Amino acid sequence: MPTKQFNPDGIDFKLFTPGPVESPDWILKELGKANDTHRSLAYREMHGSIRTNLQKLLSTKNEILIFANSGTGILEACVRNLLKDDETGLFFTCGAFGDRWASIAKLNGKKSDVVSVDWGKGISPELVKTTLSKKKYPVVFITFNETSTGILNPLDKIGPIIKESGALLCVDCVSGMGGTRLNVDEWGIDVALASVQKCFGIPPGIAICSISDRAFEKAKTVENRGFYFDFLKLKKKGESDEHPITPPIPQIRALKTVLERIIAEDPENFYKGHTERSQMIRDWAIENGFEIFSEEGYHSQTVVTITNNKNIDVAKFVNDMFESGYKIVNGYGKALKGKTFRMAPMGWITKEETQKMLDVATVVLKNL
Ligand SMILES: Cc1ncc(COP(=O)(O)O)c(C=O)c1O
Repeated sequence: MPTKQFNPDGIDFKLFTPGPVESPDWILKELGKANDTHRSLAYREMHGSIRTNLQKLLSTKNEILIFANSGTGILEACVRNLLKDDETGLFFTCGAFGDRWASIAKLNGKKSDVVSVDWGKGISPELVKTTLSKKKYPVVFITFNETSTGILNPLDKIGPIIKESGALLCVDCVSGMGGTRLNVDEWGIDVALASVQKCFGIPPGIAICSISDRAFEKAKTVENRGFYFDFLKLKKKGESDEHPITPPIPQIRALKTVLERIIAEDPENFYKGHTERSQMIRDWAIENGFEIFSEEGYHSQTVVTITNNKNIDVAKFVNDMFESGYKIVNGYGKALKGKTFRMAPMGWITKEETQKMLDVATVVLKNL
């Protein structure tokens, strides 16, 4: 067990975790500001600003919805709103979060076909094409950036294939949105969803998505969509920049500010920062005799999963890093714990901070 503890007066270590990530002071300040109610002009202005700027960030004309829950809630919302009980959804999975989405469908009584690849491999356009040539599906579900394995799936190539099949496409972009470019309209994505505690660097509490008109039309035909996660209810209120329930206003204020900043500073620069920092981590891993778990050509730009081919004591390495001021994480779940570890340069962390962390990691590794 780590001896170092979280210090509520200000953390004295840096997070290189795949979410939640470190929130800089300028974001924390937004959370601490006084609130008006969620039925005020001040709220509507924030909500409206997020709708406009997220459309810009995602290159989409699709509607933007704000959810008062974490990303998993939207995974559930997608199956509840878009799959009828007598339909079968197609789930492509390459890791723990893809598997989770398929299991959420089952738990909601929905039918699913699951196509999995070995962990560490990506979902190739060829696999998507072959699968869709055998059977027609009403909805396809896929993970953009698989946080367990460090895989980034090529949605630019996969999306148009799925669109051509006539299926709706739902994409879990939880750990990719903001850190990696997403061209929602060009790639034919009907639902692109994310949490704010990853690349946006906001403390957890809300999730967001873009939704196409096609998806809203489909939702109208699906029964038992529930209340909290009903796309149509959220759309109706959202159109006047309101929310059907009481949302976490501080997180919404923080998201407004974060999006304004990313757009003012040019999103390409934000993506480039993620690309450079994740490359620094991969280079460090190779220099230190490790292998990268994700296959070549599919490396995530926001989280690096490193194979423990040197058979180090990963739990001790993670703990010693923590004692030295940096939080990295073990492999995800039973399958990858001890066999991999992960370093994630998401959000507002800088190249200089990443280099310092890697220098410390080199020393900690030597002393293991
Ligand atoms: C790819 C992916 N999908 C879904 C989730 C679940 O998101 P949340 O914890 O915001 O519900 C995570 C969380 O790490 C994730 O990385």
